[in-house]
Amino acid sequence: MSDTPQPQAGEPGTVAVTVDRSGKREPTWVPPDQSGPMPRLRVKDLSHTYVDKTGRGTEAVRDISFDVVDKPGTGEVIVFLGPSGCGKSTILKAVAGLIVPTKGDVFLDGKLIEEPGRDRGMVFQQYTSFGWLTVRENVEYGLKLHGTPRAERRKLSQKYLEEVGLAEFGDHFPKDLSGGMKQRVAIARTLINKPRVVLMDEPFGALDPQTRWGMQSLLLDVSRQEDNTILFVTHDVSEAVYLADSVYVLSARPARILHRVNVPFFANRDASLKSTREFREIEEKLLDLLYSS
Ligand SMILES: Nc1ncnc2c1ncn2[C@@H]1O[C@H](COP(=O)(O)OP(=O)(O)O)[C@@H](O)[C@H]1O
Ligand SMILES: [Mg+2]
Repeated sequence: MSDTPQPQAGEPGTVAVTVDRSGKREPTWVPPDQSGPMPRLRVKDLSHTYVDKTGRGTEAVRDISFDVVDKPGTGEVIVFLGPSGCGKSTILKAVAGLIVPTKGDVFLDGKLIEEPGRDRGMVFQQYTSFGWLTVRENVEYGLKLHGTPRAERRKLSQKYLEEVGLAEFGDHFPKDLSGGMKQRVAIARTLINKPRVVLMDEPFGALDPQTRWGMQSLLLDVSRQEDNTILFVTHDVSEAVYLADSVYVLSARPARILHRVNVPFFANRDASLKSTREFREIEEKLLDLLYSS
């Protein structure tokens, strides 16, 4: 690795980062040239200010630009890491089409995002499901809305319930499940629609650490199997290292991208990885970047 930030081939704006504890650090992120052909997802000059009833503005996101290219055959997880309240959810909401940004555009497969759509799936921290539907009916809900025949729905819901380890729980109601199991329902319900990108907003934030680690591993297994592109938001550094192929480090509010750090390929990602030196080094690097800006 070089001491001076060097863009790496094929990854616009990616830099090699060295740990330096000498205090304040300048951003190393260089926005990509976005004049070329559209990648899978393009976020361009995104800024957002919330305005309340009295007209008071809260600037949440400022000038965020990044591209996500399609990497067929590799489930890819891109993590946005930033302090609480910095604007992480706002970025995801803009991609989801849940807010109209004050400035800038988001394109999915070249198409401007103006509203929520089936090509994006979202998993929130709080499990949002229909309490009066069984687990299986919740998982099948999107397919039903779109007229998928019953037999086909059943086949697919069984596949996804198995993938998330809930094959035995199809006929239960969500209220009878633990927090981790509920989030597995949310993941199955999202993936069954085969979204182009999966947006995950601190989905494991409310779970106890043990369950959380299990869910992180499950997410990695499922995403590899499904060949998904996942944008994952967290303020948890350890979670970021565990899940990410690359991490965008965000500033305090208004969120700006400060750095992009590639996480090396770990041959085995299970809970024991978290106590290895390699893992801890990246964790430290990210902590340093997060708190020295
Ligand atoms: N609907 C809203 N109206 C006004 N302010 C909001 C709204 N949603 C979020 N904010 C403010 O915008 C800032 C960023 O919020 P958010 O994107 O939720 O941050 P994060 O997800 O990183 O915690 C916060 O200061 C928050 O209070
Ligand atoms: Mg949030």
